[in-house]
Amino acid sequence: MKHLKYLFFLPASLVLLAVSCSKDSSTTSTDESGDWIKRSSLNGDARYEAASFVIEDTGYIVTGFNGTDRYNDTWGFTPNSSSGQWLQKAQFPGAKRNSAVGFSVNKKGYVTTGYDGARPLKDTWEYTPGANGGSWVQRADFPEPVNPGTGLNFGRYEATAWSLTANGVAKGYVGFGLNSGQSAQKDVYAYNPANNTWAQVASPGGDKRSAAAVFVNANKAYIISGLYNNSSLNDMWMYNPDTDTWTEMNKISNISTEGFDDDYTDIVRYNAASFVMNNGSVVKGYLTVGVNGSLTNKTWEYDFATDRWLRKTYFEKSTRTGAVGFTMKGRGFVTTGSASGLTLDDLYEFDPTKTRDDNNN
Ligand SMILES: *[C@@H]1O[C@H](CO)[C@@H](O)[C@H](O)[C@H]1NC(C)=O
Ligand SMILES: *[C@@H]1O[C@H](CO)[C@@H](O)[C@H](O)[C@H]1NC(C)=O
Ligand SMILES: *[C@@H]1O[C@H](CO)[C@@H](O)[C@H](O)[C@H]1NC(C)=O
Ligand SMILES: *[C@@H]1O[C@H](CO)[C@@H](O)[C@H](O)[C@H]1NC(C)=O
Ligand SMILES: *[C@@H]1O[C@H](CO)[C@@H](O)[C@H](O)[C@H]1NC(C)=O
Ligand SMILES: *[C@@H]1O[C@H](CO)[C@@H](O)[C@H](O)[C@H]1NC(C)=O
Ligand SMILES: *[C@@H]1O[C@H](CO)[C@@H](O)[C@H](O)[C@H]1NC(C)=O
Ligand SMILES: *[C@@H]1O[C@H](CO)[C@@H](O)[C@H](O)[C@H]1NC(C)=O
Ligand SMILES: *[C@@H]1O[C@H](CO)[C@@H](O)[C@H](O)[C@H]1NC(C)=O
Repeated sequence: MKHLKYLFFLPASLVLLAVSCSKDSSTTSTDESGDWIKRSSLNGDARYEAASFVIEDTGYIVTGFNGTDRYNDTWGFTPNSSSGQWLQKAQFPGAKRNSAVGFSVNKKGYVTTGYDGARPLKDTWEYTPGANGGSWVQRADFPEPVNPGTGLNFGRYEATAWSLTANGVAKGYVGFGLNSGQSAQKDVYAYNPANNTWAQVASPGGDKRSAAAVFVNANKAYIISGLYNNSSLNDMWMYNPDTDTWTEMNKISNISTEGFDDDYTDIVRYNAASFVMNNGSVVKGYLTVGVNGSLTNKTWEYDFATDRWLRKTYFEKSTRTGAVGFTMKGRGFVTTGSASGLTLDDLYEFDPTKTRDDNNN
Protein backbone atom coordinates (compact mmCIF):
# COMPACT_ATOMS: atom_id res chain seq x y z
CA MET A 1 0.00 0.00 0.00
CA LYS A 2 2.87 2.37 0.80
CA HIS A 3 4.26 1.59 -2.60
CA LEU A 4 1.00 2.58 -4.23
CA LYS A 5 0.94 5.88 -2.35
CA TYR A 6 4.37 6.72 -3.75
CA LEU A 7 3.07 6.21 -7.24
CA PHE A 8 0.48 8.89 -6.63
CA PHE A 9 3.02 11.28 -5.23
CA LEU A 10 5.40 10.99 -8.12
CA PRO A 11 3.50 13.08 -10.69
CA ALA A 12 2.88 15.86 -8.16
CA SER A 13 6.56 16.09 -7.17
CA LEU A 14 7.60 16.13 -10.83
CA VAL A 15 5.21 18.97 -11.48
CA LEU A 16 6.60 20.84 -8.48
CA LEU A 17 10.14 20.37 -9.68
CA ALA A 18 9.18 21.76 -13.06
CA VAL A 19 7.44 24.73 -11.47
CA SER A 20 10.28 25.56 -9.10
CA CYS A 21 12.81 25.44 -11.96
CA SER A 22 10.67 27.78 -14.00
CA LYS A 23 11.39 31.49 -13.94
CA ASP A 24 7.78 32.33 -14.73
CA SER A 25 6.47 33.58 -11.40
CA SER A 26 2.87 33.63 -12.68
CA THR A 27 2.77 29.84 -12.55
CA THR A 28 4.17 29.49 -9.02
CA SER A 29 1.73 31.44 -6.90
CA THR A 30 -1.68 29.83 -7.23
CA ASP A 31 -0.77 26.15 -6.85
CA GLU A 32 0.85 27.05 -3.50
CA SER A 33 -2.17 28.94 -2.23
CA GLY A 34 -3.88 26.98 0.54
CA ASP A 35 -2.80 24.04 2.69
CA TRP A 36 -4.19 20.53 3.16
CA ILE A 37 -3.79 19.39 6.78
CA LYS A 38 -4.22 15.81 8.01
CA ARG A 39 -6.92 15.32 10.66
CA SER A 40 -8.41 12.27 12.37
CA SER A 41 -9.09 9.29 10.06
CA LEU A 42 -12.47 7.54 9.94
CA ASN A 43 -12.71 4.88 12.68
CA GLY A 44 -14.83 2.62 10.46
CA ASP A 45 -13.78 0.76 7.31
CA ALA A 46 -12.27 2.70 4.44
CA ARG A 47 -14.80 3.37 1.69
CA TYR A 48 -15.82 5.50 -1.28
CA GLU A 49 -19.09 6.75 -2.74
CA ALA A 50 -20.56 7.26 0.74
CA ALA A 51 -23.56 9.57 1.24
CA SER A 52 -23.05 12.57 3.50
CA PHE A 53 -24.83 15.41 5.27
CA VAL A 54 -24.01 17.96 7.96
CA ILE A 55 -26.12 18.67 11.07
CA GLU A 56 -24.86 21.51 13.25
CA ASP A 57 -21.13 20.88 13.88
CA THR A 58 -21.07 17.23 12.81
CA GLY A 59 -20.48 15.83 9.32
CA TYR A 60 -22.00 12.41 8.74
CA ILE A 61 -21.02 9.72 6.30
CA VAL A 62 -23.46 6.89 5.65
CA THR A 63 -23.14 3.72 3.54
CA GLY A 64 -20.39 3.42 0.86
CA PHE A 65 -18.39 0.75 -0.94
CA ASN A 66 -14.86 -0.67 -0.79
CA GLY A 67 -14.77 -2.32 -4.19
CA THR A 68 -16.29 -5.59 -2.96
CA ASP A 69 -18.42 -4.86 0.11
CA ARG A 70 -21.12 -2.26 0.60
CA TYR A 71 -21.76 -0.68 3.99
CA ASN A 72 -24.72 0.35 6.11
CA ASP A 73 -22.94 2.06 9.01
CA THR A 74 -23.16 5.74 9.96
CA TRP A 75 -20.29 7.87 11.29
CA GLY A 76 -20.19 11.44 12.51
CA PHE A 77 -17.06 13.64 12.52
CA THR A 78 -17.00 16.68 14.80
CA PRO A 79 -13.91 18.87 14.38
CA ASN A 80 -12.12 20.35 17.37
CA SER A 81 -9.35 22.93 17.41
CA SER A 82 -6.59 20.46 16.51
CA SER A 83 -8.26 17.53 14.79
CA GLY A 84 -11.65 16.11 15.78
CA GLN A 85 -13.55 13.03 16.75
CA TRP A 86 -15.35 10.32 14.78
CA LEU A 87 -18.22 8.57 16.57
CA GLN A 88 -20.28 5.68 15.28
CA LYS A 89 -23.99 6.47 15.00
CA ALA A 90 -27.14 4.37 14.54
CA GLN A 91 -26.89 1.84 11.72
CA PHE A 92 -28.58 2.83 8.46
CA PRO A 93 -31.66 0.54 8.24
CA GLY A 94 -31.93 0.36 4.44
CA ALA A 95 -29.98 -1.96 2.17
CA LYS A 96 -26.21 -1.53 1.99
CA ARG A 97 -25.37 0.72 -0.95
CA ASN A 98 -22.98 3.07 -2.72
CA SER A 99 -23.55 6.26 -4.73
CA ALA A 100 -26.52 7.32 -2.59
CA VAL A 101 -26.96 11.01 -1.77
CA GLY A 102 -27.53 12.86 1.49
CA PHE A 103 -28.89 16.26 2.49
CA SER A 104 -30.05 17.84 5.73
CA VAL A 105 -33.14 19.89 6.54
CA ASN A 106 -34.08 21.36 9.93
CA LYS A 107 -31.38 19.41 11.82
CA LYS A 108 -32.37 16.06 10.35
CA GLY A 109 -30.34 14.12 7.80
CA TYR A 110 -31.70 12.31 4.74
CA VAL A 111 -30.23 9.54 2.60
CA THR A 112 -31.93 8.43 -0.60
CA THR A 113 -31.26 6.57 -3.88
CA GLY A 114 -28.01 4.59 -4.44
CA TYR A 115 -26.95 1.25 -5.87
CA ASP A 116 -26.98 -2.08 -4.00
CA GLY A 117 -24.85 -4.09 -6.45
CA ALA A 118 -27.83 -5.30 -8.49
CA ARG A 119 -30.03 -2.30 -9.11
CA PRO A 120 -30.55 1.39 -8.35
CA LEU A 121 -32.62 2.27 -5.28
CA LYS A 122 -35.23 4.88 -4.38
CA ASP A 123 -35.91 4.36 -0.67
CA THR A 124 -35.45 7.43 1.54
CA TRP A 125 -34.42 7.49 5.19
CA GLU A 126 -34.43 10.25 7.78
CA TYR A 127 -31.83 10.49 10.55
CA THR A 128 -32.43 12.32 13.84
CA PRO A 129 -29.34 12.90 16.02
CA GLY A 130 -29.77 11.97 19.68
CA ALA A 131 -28.75 9.69 22.51
CA ASN A 132 -27.29 6.28 21.66
CA GLY A 133 -26.32 7.34 18.16
CA GLY A 134 -29.66 8.83 17.12
CA SER A 135 -32.32 7.06 15.06
CA TRP A 136 -33.53 6.44 11.50
CA VAL A 137 -37.05 6.24 10.09
CA GLN A 138 -38.18 5.54 6.52
CA ARG A 139 -39.76 8.33 4.48
CA ALA A 140 -41.43 8.58 1.06
CA ASP A 141 -39.50 7.03 -1.83
CA PHE A 142 -37.66 9.18 -4.33
CA PRO A 143 -40.22 9.52 -7.18
CA GLU A 144 -38.20 7.73 -9.86
CA PRO A 145 -40.22 7.85 -13.08
CA VAL A 146 -40.73 4.72 -15.17
CA ASN A 147 -37.97 4.50 -17.78
CA PRO A 148 -39.84 4.13 -21.10
CA GLY A 149 -36.91 2.15 -22.53
CA THR A 150 -36.89 -0.55 -19.85
CA GLY A 151 -40.31 -0.16 -18.22
CA LEU A 152 -38.43 -0.08 -14.89
CA ASN A 153 -38.24 2.48 -12.12
CA PHE A 154 -36.10 0.80 -9.51
CA GLY A 155 -34.34 4.02 -8.61
CA ARG A 156 -31.26 6.09 -9.30
CA TYR A 157 -27.61 6.46 -8.35
CA GLU A 158 -24.79 8.99 -8.86
CA ALA A 159 -27.38 11.75 -8.33
CA THR A 160 -26.65 15.14 -6.73
CA ALA A 161 -28.39 16.50 -3.61
CA TRP A 162 -28.56 19.83 -1.78
CA SER A 163 -30.81 21.79 0.60
CA LEU A 164 -32.47 25.19 0.15
CA THR A 165 -35.43 27.17 1.40
CA ALA A 166 -38.14 27.67 -1.23
CA ASN A 167 -40.38 30.63 -0.37
CA GLY A 168 -39.84 30.01 3.34
CA VAL A 169 -40.17 26.19 3.23
CA ALA A 170 -36.94 24.24 3.93
CA LYS A 171 -36.49 21.44 1.39
CA GLY A 172 -34.02 18.88 0.13
CA TYR A 173 -33.36 18.56 -3.61
CA VAL A 174 -32.24 15.45 -5.49
CA GLY A 175 -31.66 15.35 -9.21
CA PHE A 176 -29.50 14.23 -12.15
CA GLY A 177 -27.81 10.80 -11.86
CA LEU A 178 -28.25 7.47 -13.63
CA ASN A 179 -31.50 5.51 -13.88
CA SER A 180 -31.95 1.75 -14.05
CA GLY A 181 -31.07 1.86 -17.75
CA GLN A 182 -27.74 3.49 -16.74
CA SER A 183 -28.86 6.58 -18.62
CA ALA A 184 -28.00 10.04 -17.34
CA GLN A 185 -30.97 12.18 -16.29
CA LYS A 186 -31.62 15.81 -15.48
CA ASP A 187 -34.95 15.76 -13.69
CA VAL A 188 -34.89 17.30 -10.21
CA TYR A 189 -37.25 16.74 -7.26
CA ALA A 190 -37.77 18.67 -4.05
CA TYR A 191 -38.49 16.79 -0.83
CA ASN A 192 -40.60 18.63 1.74
CA PRO A 193 -40.10 17.01 5.17
CA ALA A 194 -43.09 18.94 6.59
CA ASN A 195 -45.53 16.73 4.68
CA ASN A 196 -43.18 13.95 3.49
CA THR A 197 -43.79 14.68 -0.19
CA TRP A 198 -41.62 14.90 -3.30
CA ALA A 199 -42.50 17.26 -6.16
CA GLN A 200 -40.70 17.75 -9.46
CA VAL A 201 -39.09 21.15 -9.98
CA ALA A 202 -37.46 22.76 -13.02
CA SER A 203 -34.44 21.25 -14.76
CA PRO A 204 -31.58 23.33 -16.14
CA GLY A 205 -30.62 23.59 -19.79
CA GLY A 206 -27.51 21.80 -20.96
CA ASP A 207 -26.90 18.06 -20.94
CA LYS A 208 -28.13 15.36 -18.62
CA ARG A 209 -25.42 14.32 -16.20
CA SER A 210 -24.33 12.08 -13.33
CA ALA A 211 -21.87 12.49 -10.46
CA ALA A 212 -22.01 16.30 -10.66
CA ALA A 213 -20.72 18.43 -7.77
CA VAL A 214 -22.73 21.12 -5.99
CA PHE A 215 -22.12 24.28 -3.97
CA VAL A 216 -24.81 25.99 -1.91
CA ASN A 217 -24.47 29.66 -1.06
CA ALA A 218 -26.96 32.42 -0.21
CA ASN A 219 -29.88 30.03 -0.77
CA LYS A 220 -28.82 29.17 -4.33
CA ALA A 221 -27.45 25.82 -5.54
CA TYR A 222 -24.69 25.64 -8.17
CA ILE A 223 -24.44 22.40 -10.14
CA ILE A 224 -20.90 21.92 -11.40
CA SER A 225 -19.71 19.77 -14.32
CA GLY A 226 -20.49 16.02 -14.05
CA LEU A 227 -20.36 13.15 -16.53
CA TYR A 228 -22.31 12.71 -19.74
CA ASN A 229 -21.55 10.35 -22.61
CA ASN A 230 -18.09 9.61 -21.17
CA SER A 231 -17.08 13.28 -21.05
CA SER A 232 -16.82 15.76 -18.21
CA LEU A 233 -19.20 18.65 -18.86
CA ASN A 234 -17.84 22.20 -18.92
CA ASP A 235 -20.94 23.98 -17.67
CA MET A 236 -22.30 25.17 -14.35
CA TRP A 237 -25.89 26.12 -13.46
CA MET A 238 -27.36 28.12 -10.59
CA TYR A 239 -30.77 27.16 -9.13
CA ASN A 240 -33.04 29.72 -7.47
CA PRO A 241 -35.64 27.84 -5.36
CA ASP A 242 -37.94 30.84 -4.89
CA THR A 243 -38.48 31.32 -8.61
CA ASP A 244 -37.78 27.66 -9.55
CA THR A 245 -35.42 28.80 -12.30
CA TRP A 246 -31.91 27.92 -13.47
CA THR A 247 -29.28 30.36 -14.76
CA GLU A 248 -26.15 29.30 -16.60
CA MET A 249 -22.87 30.59 -15.15
CA ASN A 250 -19.60 31.09 -17.04
CA LYS A 251 -18.27 27.99 -18.74
CA ILE A 252 -15.62 26.21 -16.65
CA SER A 253 -13.21 25.70 -19.53
CA ASN A 254 -11.17 28.05 -21.71
CA ILE A 255 -14.06 29.04 -23.97
CA SER A 256 -14.36 32.81 -23.90
CA THR A 257 -12.15 35.14 -25.92
CA GLU A 258 -11.34 36.97 -22.68
CA GLY A 259 -8.34 36.13 -20.53
CA PHE A 260 -10.08 35.22 -17.26
CA ASP A 261 -10.62 31.59 -18.25
CA ASP A 262 -7.28 30.88 -19.95
CA ASP A 263 -6.24 28.75 -16.96
CA TYR A 264 -9.58 26.88 -16.71
CA THR A 265 -8.01 23.78 -18.22
CA ASP A 266 -8.63 21.25 -15.45
CA ILE A 267 -11.75 22.34 -13.54
CA VAL A 268 -14.17 19.93 -15.26
CA ARG A 269 -14.60 16.56 -13.55
CA TYR A 270 -17.08 14.13 -12.02
CA ASN A 271 -17.19 12.30 -8.66
CA ALA A 272 -15.48 15.34 -7.13
CA ALA A 273 -15.54 16.59 -3.53
CA SER A 274 -16.97 20.07 -2.98
CA PHE A 275 -17.52 22.32 0.03
CA VAL A 276 -18.18 25.98 0.78
CA MET A 277 -16.25 28.07 3.31
CA ASN A 278 -16.58 31.49 4.77
CA ASN A 279 -13.36 33.50 5.00
CA GLY A 280 -14.46 36.40 7.15
CA SER A 281 -17.49 37.68 5.28
CA VAL A 282 -16.32 36.33 1.93
CA VAL A 283 -17.87 32.96 0.98
CA LYS A 284 -16.09 30.77 -1.57
CA GLY A 285 -16.74 27.33 -3.03
CA TYR A 286 -14.00 24.68 -3.27
CA LEU A 287 -13.82 21.85 -5.78
CA THR A 288 -11.15 19.15 -5.49
CA VAL A 289 -10.32 15.55 -6.52
CA GLY A 290 -12.56 13.44 -8.79
CA VAL A 291 -12.10 12.17 -12.32
CA ASN A 292 -11.60 13.72 -15.73
CA GLY A 293 -10.26 10.97 -17.95
CA SER A 294 -8.03 10.03 -14.99
CA LEU A 295 -7.97 10.93 -11.29
CA THR A 296 -7.37 14.63 -10.70
CA ASN A 297 -6.00 16.34 -7.58
CA LYS A 298 -6.50 19.89 -8.88
CA THR A 299 -8.23 22.23 -6.44
CA TRP A 300 -10.21 25.27 -7.52
CA GLU A 301 -11.84 28.09 -5.58
CA TYR A 302 -15.08 29.62 -6.86
CA ASP A 303 -15.97 33.23 -6.15
CA PHE A 304 -19.79 33.49 -6.02
CA ALA A 305 -19.67 37.28 -6.28
CA THR A 306 -17.73 37.38 -9.55
CA ASP A 307 -18.44 33.93 -11.09
CA ARG A 308 -14.68 33.38 -11.44
CA TRP A 309 -12.39 30.49 -10.47
CA LEU A 310 -8.93 30.59 -8.90
CA ARG A 311 -6.45 27.71 -8.82
CA LYS A 312 -5.47 26.62 -5.29
CA THR A 313 -3.03 24.08 -3.83
CA TYR A 314 -3.69 20.63 -5.34
CA PHE A 315 -5.01 17.97 -2.94
CA GLU A 316 -1.74 16.94 -1.30
CA LYS A 317 -2.48 13.28 -0.50
CA SER A 318 -3.58 10.32 -2.66
CA THR A 319 -5.70 11.77 -5.42
CA ARG A 320 -9.07 10.06 -5.32
CA THR A 321 -12.62 9.64 -6.56
CA GLY A 322 -15.87 9.16 -4.66
CA ALA A 323 -14.63 11.20 -1.67
CA VAL A 324 -16.90 13.24 0.60
CA GLY A 325 -16.49 17.00 1.04
CA PHE A 326 -18.21 18.90 3.84
CA THR A 327 -18.01 22.03 5.99
CA MET A 328 -18.35 22.15 9.79
CA LYS A 329 -17.65 25.17 12.03
CA GLY A 330 -16.82 27.08 8.83
CA ARG A 331 -13.97 24.65 8.07
CA GLY A 332 -13.79 22.49 4.94
CA PHE A 333 -12.92 18.77 4.99
CA VAL A 334 -12.42 15.96 2.48
CA THR A 335 -12.55 12.33 3.59
CA THR A 336 -12.64 8.75 2.26
CA GLY A 337 -12.55 7.91 -1.46
CA SER A 338 -10.79 5.50 -3.80
CA ALA A 339 -7.33 5.92 -5.31
CA SER A 340 -7.15 3.36 -8.14
CA GLY A 341 -7.99 0.30 -6.08
CA LEU A 342 -6.73 1.69 -2.77
CA THR A 343 -9.77 2.46 -0.61
CA LEU A 344 -9.17 5.33 1.82
CA ASP A 345 -10.23 6.33 5.34
CA ASP A 346 -8.14 9.50 5.82
CA LEU A 347 -9.47 13.02 6.36
CA TYR A 348 -7.94 16.39 5.43
CA GLU A 349 -8.84 19.95 6.20
CA PHE A 350 -8.24 22.68 3.63
CA ASP A 351 -7.09 26.07 4.86
CA PRO A 352 -7.21 28.44 1.86
CA THR A 353 -5.47 31.24 3.77
CA LYS A 354 -2.22 29.30 4.39
CA THR A 355 0.64 28.54 2.03
CA ARG A 356 1.20 24.92 1.03
CA ASP A 357 3.15 23.02 3.68
CA ASP A 358 4.09 19.40 2.94
CA ASN A 359 5.01 18.67 6.58
CA ASN A 360 1.48 18.47 7.97
CA ASN A 361 -0.11 15.87 5.79
C1 LIG B 1 -13.76 -4.85 1.64
O1 LIG B 1 -13.98 -5.12 3.02
C2 LIG B 1 -14.12 -6.51 3.30
C3 LIG B 1 -14.52 -6.62 4.75
O2 LIG B 1 -13.64 -5.89 5.56
C4 LIG B 1 -12.84 -7.22 2.97
O3 LIG B 1 -12.99 -8.60 3.19
C5 LIG B 1 -12.52 -6.99 1.50
O4 LIG B 1 -11.27 -7.56 1.19
C6 LIG B 1 -12.48 -5.49 1.20
N1 LIG B 1 -12.29 -5.31 -0.23
C7 LIG B 1 -11.36 -4.51 -0.72
C8 LIG B 1 -11.30 -4.43 -2.22
O5 LIG B 1 -10.62 -3.85 0.00
C1 LIG C 1 -9.26 16.68 19.15
O1 LIG C 1 -9.48 15.39 18.59
C2 LIG C 1 -8.33 14.56 18.61
C3 LIG C 1 -8.67 13.29 17.84
O2 LIG C 1 -9.84 12.70 18.34
C4 LIG C 1 -7.90 14.30 20.05
O3 LIG C 1 -6.74 13.50 20.04
C5 LIG C 1 -7.60 15.62 20.72
O4 LIG C 1 -7.32 15.40 22.08
C6 LIG C 1 -8.80 16.56 20.61
N1 LIG C 1 -8.39 17.87 21.07
C7 LIG C 1 -9.18 18.63 21.81
C8 LIG C 1 -8.66 19.97 22.15
O5 LIG C 1 -10.30 18.26 22.17
C1 LIG D 1 -26.12 -4.00 8.09
O1 LIG D 1 -24.79 -4.49 8.19
C2 LIG D 1 -24.63 -5.48 9.20
C3 LIG D 1 -23.13 -5.79 9.24
O2 LIG D 1 -22.66 -6.18 7.99
C4 LIG D 1 -25.49 -6.69 8.87
O3 LIG D 1 -25.37 -7.63 9.91
C5 LIG D 1 -26.95 -6.25 8.73
O4 LIG D 1 -27.73 -7.34 8.30
C6 LIG D 1 -27.07 -5.13 7.73
N1 LIG D 1 -28.44 -4.64 7.66
C7 LIG D 1 -29.13 -4.61 6.51
C8 LIG D 1 -30.53 -4.08 6.60
O5 LIG D 1 -28.64 -4.98 5.43
C1 LIG E 1 -46.86 19.81 0.97
O1 LIG E 1 -46.63 21.12 1.44
C2 LIG E 1 -46.43 22.10 0.42
C3 LIG E 1 -46.18 23.44 1.08
O2 LIG E 1 -45.32 23.35 2.13
C4 LIG E 1 -47.61 22.18 -0.49
O3 LIG E 1 -47.32 23.07 -1.55
C5 LIG E 1 -47.91 20.83 -1.06
O4 LIG E 1 -49.12 20.89 -1.81
C6 LIG E 1 -48.10 19.82 0.07
N1 LIG E 1 -48.31 18.52 -0.54
C7 LIG E 1 -49.26 17.71 -0.14
C8 LIG E 1 -49.39 16.42 -0.89
O5 LIG E 1 -49.99 17.99 0.78
C1 LIG F 1 -21.21 10.83 -27.41
O1 LIG F 1 -19.82 10.85 -27.70
C2 LIG F 1 -19.52 10.35 -28.97
C3 LIG F 1 -18.01 10.23 -29.07
O2 LIG F 1 -17.37 11.38 -28.58
C4 LIG F 1 -20.13 11.29 -30.02
O3 LIG F 1 -19.85 10.80 -31.31
C5 LIG F 1 -21.63 11.33 -29.82
O4 LIG F 1 -22.20 12.27 -30.70
C6 LIG F 1 -21.96 11.73 -28.39
N1 LIG F 1 -23.38 11.58 -28.18
C7 LIG F 1 -24.12 12.53 -27.62
C8 LIG F 1 -25.58 12.22 -27.48
O5 LIG F 1 -23.65 13.59 -27.25
C1 LIG G 1 -18.43 4.97 -22.41
O1 LIG G 1 -17.25 4.23 -22.64
C2 LIG G 1 -17.40 2.87 -22.35
C3 LIG G 1 -16.03 2.21 -22.45
O2 LIG G 1 -15.28 2.81 -23.49
C4 LIG G 1 -18.42 2.26 -23.29
O3 LIG G 1 -18.59 0.89 -23.00
C5 LIG G 1 -19.75 2.98 -23.09
O4 LIG G 1 -20.70 2.52 -24.03
C6 LIG G 1 -19.58 4.48 -23.28
N1 LIG G 1 -20.81 5.13 -22.90
C7 LIG G 1 -21.41 6.05 -23.66
C8 LIG G 1 -22.66 6.65 -23.12
O5 LIG G 1 -20.92 6.41 -24.73
C1 LIG H 1 -7.41 29.87 -24.22
O1 LIG H 1 -8.06 30.15 -25.45
C2 LIG H 1 -7.49 31.23 -26.18
C3 LIG H 1 -8.32 31.41 -27.43
O2 LIG H 1 -9.64 31.68 -27.09
C4 LIG H 1 -6.05 30.88 -26.52
O3 LIG H 1 -5.45 32.00 -27.15
C5 LIG H 1 -5.29 30.56 -25.25
O4 LIG H 1 -4.00 30.11 -25.58
C6 LIG H 1 -5.99 29.47 -24.47
N1 LIG H 1 -5.29 29.25 -23.22
C7 LIG H 1 -4.87 28.04 -22.84
C8 LIG H 1 -4.15 27.98 -21.53
O5 LIG H 1 -5.08 27.04 -23.49
C1 LIG I 1 -11.26 16.65 -19.36
O1 LIG I 1 -12.57 16.86 -19.87
C2 LIG I 1 -12.60 17.66 -21.03
C3 LIG I 1 -14.06 17.87 -21.38
O2 LIG I 1 -14.77 16.65 -21.40
C4 LIG I 1 -11.84 16.98 -22.15
O3 LIG I 1 -11.81 17.82 -23.28
C5 LIG I 1 -10.42 16.71 -21.68
O4 LIG I 1 -9.75 15.97 -22.65
C6 LIG I 1 -10.45 15.92 -20.40
N1 LIG I 1 -9.13 15.68 -19.91
C7 LIG I 1 -8.69 14.45 -19.70
C8 LIG I 1 -7.30 14.34 -19.14
O5 LIG I 1 -9.38 13.48 -19.93
C1 LIG J 1 -9.11 35.37 3.67
O1 LIG J 1 -9.22 36.62 4.30
C2 LIG J 1 -7.98 37.17 4.64
C3 LIG J 1 -8.26 38.45 5.43
O2 LIG J 1 -9.23 39.23 4.74
C4 LIG J 1 -7.18 37.46 3.37
O3 LIG J 1 -5.91 37.98 3.69
C5 LIG J 1 -7.00 36.14 2.62
O4 LIG J 1 -6.37 36.38 1.39
C6 LIG J 1 -8.35 35.51 2.36
N1 LIG J 1 -8.12 34.19 1.76
C7 LIG J 1 -8.88 33.73 0.79
C8 LIG J 1 -8.56 32.36 0.31
O5 LIG J 1 -9.81 34.35 0.31
